[in-house]
Amino acid sequence: MTALTLSTSAAPGLRADAIVIGVAKGAKGPVVAPGAEAVNEAYDGKLAGVLETLGASGAEGELTKLPSPAGFKAPLVIAVGLGAEPEDRDYPAEALRKAAGVAARALTGAKKAAFALPVEDAAAVGAIAEGVLLGAYSFDTYKDNGKDPKAKNGKAPLAEAALLGGKPRDAAHKAAAARATAVSEELNRARDLINTPPNDLTPAIFAGIAQEAAKEHGIKIQVLDDKALTKGGYGGILGVGGGSAATPRLVKLSYTHAKADKHLAFVGKGITYDSGGISLKPAGHNETMKCDMSGAAAVFAAVVAAARLGLEVNVTGWLALAENMPSGSAVRPGDVLRMYSGKTVEVLNTDAEGRLVLADALWAASAEKPDAIVDVATLTGAMMLALGSRTFGVMANDDAFRSTVHEAAEEVGEPAWPMPLPEHLRKGMDSATADIANMGERMGGGLVAGLFLREFVGEGITWAHLDIAGPAFNEGGPFGYTPKGGTGSAVRTLVRLAELTAAGDLG
Ligand code: BES
Ligand code: MN
Ligand code: ZN
Repeated sequence: MTALTLSTSAAPGLRADAIVIGVAKGAKGPVVAPGAEAVNEAYDGKLAGVLETLGASGAEGELTKLPSPAGFKAPLVIAVGLGAEPEDRDYPAEALRKAAGVAARALTGAKKAAFALPVEDAAAVGAIAEGVLLGAYSFDTYKDNGKDPKAKNGKAPLAEAALLGGKPRDAAHKAAAARATAVSEELNRARDLINTPPNDLTPAIFAGIAQEAAKEHGIKIQVLDDKALTKGGYGGILGVGGGSAATPRLVKLSYTHAKADKHLAFVGKGITYDSGGISLKPAGHNETMKCDMSGAAAVFAAVVAAARLGLEVNVTGWLALAENMPSGSAVRPGDVLRMYSGKTVEVLNTDAEGRLVLADALWAASAEKPDAIVDVATLTGAMMLALGSRTFGVMANDDAFRSTVHEAAEEVGEPAWPMPLPEHLRKGMDSATADIANMGERMGGGLVAGLFLREFVGEGITWAHLDIAGPAFNEGGPFGYTPKGGTGSAVRTLVRLAELTAAGDLG
């Protein structure tokens, strides 16, 4: 990953491939953002005009390249749009994150770049650092053209980023950069897992990767394999995983802090590949289904990040890992599963598998009586239809907690929106044979799935459900600090929730 430094160097003397500056949308055209004073001076104070001549407006996502002024060691200036100029010139964190990400993407293949974006405070340092580290991400593990896997075809991500204006001796600045580094490294690891093809990321392999990370970061880990799952009666996970030659796993990661007095549980849907099972998905709907373990990847990343940050809170992560495949041993539409909670579920559609593995993991998480449970899942196509491909839905059994989760998401730059759990949709899942069916009314399918999950949350436990089916995997082109493919959606929201809980701000 890109190496990050805070630097007090002046822009002109800095040896780098490029200097990144910010340009905002002012009332009368583009304005040069704070941080770029030296560049502007070297342009005789006429940089805004130069940028306007080149067609720059300061709009978000915009990128303009211009040659450095005389006397600068770096040959290139990259001006990135920050959107509307704020009245107090205090740029929103997300504008900084996106602009830094746009620049970092354009700097693929470069050795070093200096970022001279507006740094008002430590929060800005953190936002720029995150934008750089997340924007520079690329997944090229398999781009070796059949040759030496070390001789990559793809250009390497930006090797080194110096944040000008970030004070290396300021404790708050240093902490913000360290936090951004830990969170971004783990988030990028989640992206790697999501992007890894399903033949190379089975439940057992995923569990093995979690074991290594747990060892490295002092996290307790317990892995239940198919034998242990059978013994324990995890009918949901076993039912879904039964059709695959790659057997399922339930992974429990426990990060504890000696001074913690709160306990959060995160539960992730980890379908390493979702073919739909016997209710097979048609071609056109299964090519990206390696992304169906994005929830588990997010939970994994968040627990490791919490450990690396040493947060004063206990966090348990549950990864419900299975591959949903059709075969002679696969669960059939019409089968009844006895779940870990003891409830019976009539499987009417084997493609509604996420809720089955989550049900077992939610019940297992509930047994520890955490202060709150948050599950994360690429659960329904319906949520994508409702909220589009960049926003995740937040459902909960507690209005205040749903608002807390929603606000945490917005705060870290993850678009989210509250969704209801309408009681009248519950009866659509009534089953003639079992306690409940795994499908209900088609309309409001995302909410139906949420209502199903609610049945497997222990009595009296605060719970929220994030349906990240839309934002988990970016099928379009990259934007801001979001790459094509796995995005790492929900990682930053979960980390923020852990921080808020540690600070005693979770209500
Ligand atoms: N993994 C899918 C949901 C999904 C779809 C995620 C598209 C990301 C992109 C999930 O397991 C699924 O197949 N859900 C079904 C449920 C239905 C059968 C009740 C769906 O949404 O169609
Ligand atoms: Mn499915
Ligand atoms: Zn699925």
